[in-house]
Amino acid sequence: MRCAKAGKAHKTKEKPPVLRVVYQWLGVPIMPQERLDKILSGTGRFSRSEAALLIKAGRVAVDGRTALSRALKCEPGPSCITVDGEALDCRRFRYVIMNKPQGYVCSTEDRREKTVMELLDGPLQNLGLFPAGRLDKDAEGLLLLTNDGALAHEITSPSKKVDKLYFAEIDGSISERDVEAFASGIALADGTVCLPAVLAAAPGGVLVTLREGKYHQVKRMLAAIGKHVIYLKRIAIGGLELDEALKPGEYRELTDEINRIWSACSATDPRPLAPSP
Ligand code: URA
Repeated sequence: MRCAKAGKAHKTKEKPPVLRVVYQWLGVPIMPQERLDKILSGTGRFSRSEAALLIKAGRVAVDGRTALSRALKCEPGPSCITVDGEALDCRRFRYVIMNKPQGYVCSTEDRREKTVMELLDGPLQNLGLFPAGRLDKDAEGLLLLTNDGALAHEITSPSKKVDKLYFAEIDGSISERDVEAFASGIALADGTVCLPAVLAAAPGGVLVTLREGKYHQVKRMLAAIGKHVIYLKRIAIGGLELDEALKPGEYRELTDEINRIWSACSATDPRPLAPSP
């Protein structure tokens, strides 16, 4: 990847306030400015001290000009930041879609169990990603990993109305009464009443659509109508479906596909993504 401009060294300059006001007036999204060493370490490729050393050695340039200060403030999206001439991927928020395999837990660390984080390759492990919405150890399917806390909140908060779609293989079959019980809000064994959900028969099992994310929710809802879950897979979150090309354990980064989830959040407009290099 290459950047257009080249030229003199520069120390540190924020975008002049007047220009920022004009941008705001025009409705152009403004990325908050960040220190250069923080931006570099945020790529997951360098520690903060390695970033400082690279800057000191004159190996880092911003829009073609050598950066002389680790405190230089810039906007990771519009500014082209290079190390030894190679443009860095400085996107602030990252979104990874994974087909979670069985046998892995959805946490960032665990003393005893294998975590989904272990399936990511090196640089992605250093970006502060975490699973947005959990799947049980024995469940598989669509898992979103991100460092965007706001999006994770949108997905997991029932008030945001983001549907999650599951396929479950169960012992037995469902009746019209079961479907109605789900639609009117089923009571779990402990007395917790769930929000209305959709239950439908599907080849080889059932489909369940939920807006909540209670512990073992699908299994407990189906248990409340006397069904035991043999196999569970999440197949969609909001408008984002599991990419069937991904085998269990495989993943890929999402681009503007993430806006399908933002669009599904009733209270939030889709957010503009920082451009990728
Ligand atoms: N409901 C469950 O029971 N398990 C999951 O992993 C997700 C939803």
